[in-house]
Amino acid sequence: MGGEVVIGRGLTLDNPVGAASGTFGYGFEAERMGNLAGLGAVFTKGTTVDPRPGNAPPRIAEVPGGMLNSIGLQNPGVEVVASEYAPRWRGWAPRVIVNVAGATIEDYVRVCQRLDPVPEVAAVELNISCPNIAHGLDLGVDPRAAAACTRAVRAVTGKALIVKLTPNVTDIAEIGRAVQDGGADAVSAVNTYLGLKWSSNRGRPVLPGAGMAGLSGPAIKPLAMAAVARLVAALSIPVIGIGGIASAEDAREFLELGARAVQIGTANFYRPGIAAACAAELQNGRGAA
Ligand SMILES: Cc1cc2nc3c(=O)[nH]c(=O)nc-3n(C[C@H](O)[C@H](O)[C@H](O)COP(=O)(O)O)c2cc1C
Repeated sequence: MGGEVVIGRGLTLDNPVGAASGTFGYGFEAERMGNLAGLGAVFTKGTTVDPRPGNAPPRIAEVPGGMLNSIGLQNPGVEVVASEYAPRWRGWAPRVIVNVAGATIEDYVRVCQRLDPVPEVAAVELNISCPNIAHGLDLGVDPRAAAACTRAVRAVTGKALIVKLTPNVTDIAEIGRAVQDGGADAVSAVNTYLGLKWSSNRGRPVLPGAGMAGLSGPAIKPLAMAAVARLVAALSIPVIGIGGIASAEDAREFLELGARAVQIGTANFYRPGIAAACAAELQNGRGAA
């Protein structure tokens, strides 16, 4: 169960375990800590056309079984990623898949166009589901907009195209079918669930503004599994499972459910090295119930 997996359009991973976007940066800290070897893939932080400083702190909060985040897509912009970061990925064992974000379809097209000739970029993962940017939310919740974004990117890239879905919709399978029809090679699911933490002391949410943020971690695992089950039943393209995975057992459950691969997010924060450890355990046949 822990060996090579084919995602599509030339994208093959040495094993089915990846590190999820936004929880692993661009892989350089993990490289320094010796936590890269053995991973199937690194999904980078969401990358936009222009650099973004992200939201002012506080932008994370702990909740039972997980965390809320409202990072606001802090990243150096696609030019830095393509010209300065990508050469440093040369020779890495994990495939590097760049997570792409934007406010308009044109933004996604521009980022993917810039990445297309970069050989170290194994694939792109479109984050059409970030709950922190108004237009991103629109794309991911509307099947027509999701399909249009996928089609527009498909037209400018020969790389494997993974579309990452938001669970904050009534019918995730409908969005999955739309992006499959739009030319996606795979979907990844799920991004974070919309959440809010209240501070009674202060009489307002813990996080700034309206307090809306993305919920991740073990708390969302059963919800994510239900979403993945729906997608596996509805789609013919591979589904990459994400949500609350914190052990080889968790990863194995998603794979047995029908996910082709998995990503580990929040668990990286409290156990750096967990993703590579899970990959090794799956390969050794551990993680079985
Ligand atoms: C701090 C933080 C930042 C994130 N940033 C991104 C991002 O830039 N793009 C994206 O597609 N998902 C992002 N995510 C979502 C994760 O990749 C993942 O889909 C989600 O956290 C669920 O998995 P988990 O429960 O294993 O964390 C982020 C999650 C966290 C916790």
